[in-house]
Amino acid sequence: MIFKNMTDLVGRTPCVNFRPADACPARIWIKLEGFNPTGSVKDRAAIYNIRSAIEAGQLKPGKTIIDASSGNMASALAYFGMTMGFPVTVACSSKLTAEKAGLIEYFGADLIRIGDFTIEASNYCRDVIVVKEPERYCFLDQLHNWNNPRAHFETTGPEILADFPALDAVVGSLGSGGTMNGVARFIKQNRPGARVVTVEAESGTRIPGTGAFCDGDYVTPFIEQLRSAVLVDHRLSVSLESAKARTRELTRQGFYCGIQTGGVAHAAIKIAIENDLRGDVVVISGDAGWKNMDKLAEL
Ligand SMILES: Cc1ncc(COP(=O)(O)O)c(C=O)c1O
Repeated sequence: MIFKNMTDLVGRTPCVNFRPADACPARIWIKLEGFNPTGSVKDRAAIYNIRSAIEAGQLKPGKTIIDASSGNMASALAYFGMTMGFPVTVACSSKLTAEKAGLIEYFGADLIRIGDFTIEASNYCRDVIVVKEPERYCFLDQLHNWNNPRAHFETTGPEILADFPALDAVVGSLGSGGTMNGVARFIKQNRPGARVVTVEAESGTRIPGTGAFCDGDYVTPFIEQLRSAVLVDHRLSVSLESAKARTRELTRQGFYCGIQTGGVAHAAIKIAIENDLRGDVVVISGDAGWKNMDKLAEL
């Protein structure tokens, strides 16, 4: 396989069969978004948000990309900004882990730490940083930028149906909701019989890439649309303990992913058993294990 540059490696991620110990009637497939260049699903939205800003004339040479993130989008922007020649500033909440902060700095981005929720960092970008120097910054605003779900409507969703034309269900977690908004809209338009399952974190639980909306994580317009339109068949909350246990099981079968994958796989197996799903169930694994070593070390 030959590619012209690293950005061509975003997407077309592999799916691998996971065989859980439970008597699960479905075939469970883990779609490994950790195979994207910076090891997470956020590479897709990062590229779409940057390219759309360039096409709209908002991002020009000399301007600095800025956005808020809990970690994976920040590392993706730092990386792609660097390769495309744009300086990058990211604002991250207290959820940012030391290893992701290290990646952001390694790729040469400036890091601002602010608040406990990504929305606080996002508001700080919009109301403080950009207001001070509007000519300098291009705010990509991943929490409200519809190019974020468009990335998944145009790439992740079609990839899933191309691999599994008889798809039974797709299961993924909600951070910004961009992934599941785009995937759900594509699946409901093209295979309405397939179920869409979204996964959140239980109250008091911190699972990267899995919002605990009951505890104040921000409900973006993408998540609002998922809730109001007939796009989601099941909404599940997972505990940290079940996500960790499932991550341990995945690891033993060679899946080197973050704890988000364990949580989503756990929800997928639960739904498959409860609804006697006998076909293909796709789990969207948000990131690679190497991006989560500080959390995996606690397993
Ligand atoms: C590991 C991981 N999985 C899944 C997601 C969810 O992605 P989205 O923001 O598109 O909902 C994120 C987002 O932060 C993530 O970091």
